[in-house]
Amino acid sequence: KDGRQLKIYENTDELSTDLADYIAELSEASVKERGVFAIALSGGSLISLMSKLCEAPYNKTVDWAKWYIFWADERVVAKNHTDSNYRLAKDGLLSKVPVVPSHIHSINDTVSAEKAAKDYEFVIRQLVRTRIIGVSDISDCPKFDLILLGMGPDGHVASLFPCHSVLDEKEEWVTFITDSPKPPPERITFTLPVINSASNVAVVVTGGSKAEAVHLVIDDAEPDRPSLPAKLVQPTKGNLVWFLDKAAASKLDGT
Ligand code: 6PG
Repeated sequence: KDGRQLKIYENTDELSTDLADYIAELSEASVKERGVFAIALSGGSLISLMSKLCEAPYNKTVDWAKWYIFWADERVVAKNHTDSNYRLAKDGLLSKVPVVPSHIHSINDTVSAEKAAKDYEFVIRQLVRTRIIGVSDISDCPKFDLILLGMGPDGHVASLFPCHSVLDEKEEWVTFITDSPKPPPERITFTLPVINSASNVAVVVTGGSKAEAVHLVIDDAEPDRPSLPAKLVQPTKGNLVWFLDKAAASKLDGT
């Protein structure tokens, strides 16, 4: 349905093996086509599920120097804070592979959430202009080669939480919230137009606590309920892949 692909794995080990393969393949294809790979990360368990990329063969075969790294969302805390998505990715992945430090686009952690979102959008605009990040052919939105998302049990993706007004944002690429229901309260986040303009979006979900939300989103159960943010992830032209472990997939219709 909707050109979306569902991948369901016996356990997180099998999931992470396939996730590493998927990312390595997209990286190779993108470097071949555009000379670079523009990838956006998220926080949560995603980074440890990506950790096979630090091992053979990927540590050698992936063209790390061509990676440009962004965050689909970030908590507005200092970069070295334990809550920082940057720090999580740095410790778990980026410090273990030969990425180019100047290609790592973390947020400005010395300003307000509002200013951090504006600054981040400015950086992205510049990199769209130089085509480090592609551009959508139907709007002026950035077209990331890959946006990786996790999903919370409440169906949130990036820092787009259920029923929040930022779900309606149409103009801005990066916006901020100061009332996140999940701490810390201040965050910046890609908006839905940016997520849905990507060439590839992967939603990586593990564990039984997500099973109900996975069911509501994928089976379109209770369509009259206000939409869970994850349900609004529908790339206009790009590919959408859901990586699920058995526990997260356990409430899907037909399982
Ligand atoms: C945050 C978290 C959050 C996370 C999802 C899924 O910013 O509060 O990073 O958005 O990505 O809740 O997290 P898990 O995969 O760890 O469950």
